[in-house]
Amino acid sequence: MAAKQADTPTEATHFHHSAKVFNIMQWDKKLELGIDSIDRQHRAIIERINRLEIALNSSVTSVTVPRLLEVYDYLDQYIATHFREEEELMAQNNYPNLEAHKALHHGFEAELAKLRDSLEGSGLISYATAQLVGYLGKWFITHIQGEDPKYVSYIKK
Ligand SMILES: [Fe+2]
Repeated sequence: MAAKQADTPTEATHFHHSAKVFNIMQWDKKLELGIDSIDRQHRAIIERINRLEIALNSSVTSVTVPRLLEVYDYLDQYIATHFREEEELMAQNNYPNLEAHKALHHGFEAELAKLRDSLEGSGLISYATAQLVGYLGKWFITHIQGEDPKYVSYIKK
């Protein structure tokens, strides 16, 4: 079993709505798989994406490319650890579509790496706002709702 990562939901669960923030994702019970560690990580990832979104939309916070890259790298690392843990869980339970699921994870990670390179290369925060958060959030929610539920019945509790 992979070491559990620190994934305690934080106070950021209480999102502050602002007219300027359009892409805040609300955690919903319907997103729960019923596997506690995985659900906690999913929720923590959504919260982190939301925080990134808030930071990018905030007019008072001065967002710099280095700071953004730092936040991004943290998120990227967290997501990678989460994916590996999920893949290990599927492997241990002989999930038949493990390879296809892994390919989805890897495709996402490759896409994130491209976005990161483009942010670093162009230094365009506005591009990051549109691409990074929009893509991250949409992909993640779609994946949790559409793909992850497929393995749940194979997991022995
Ligand atoms: Fe997954």
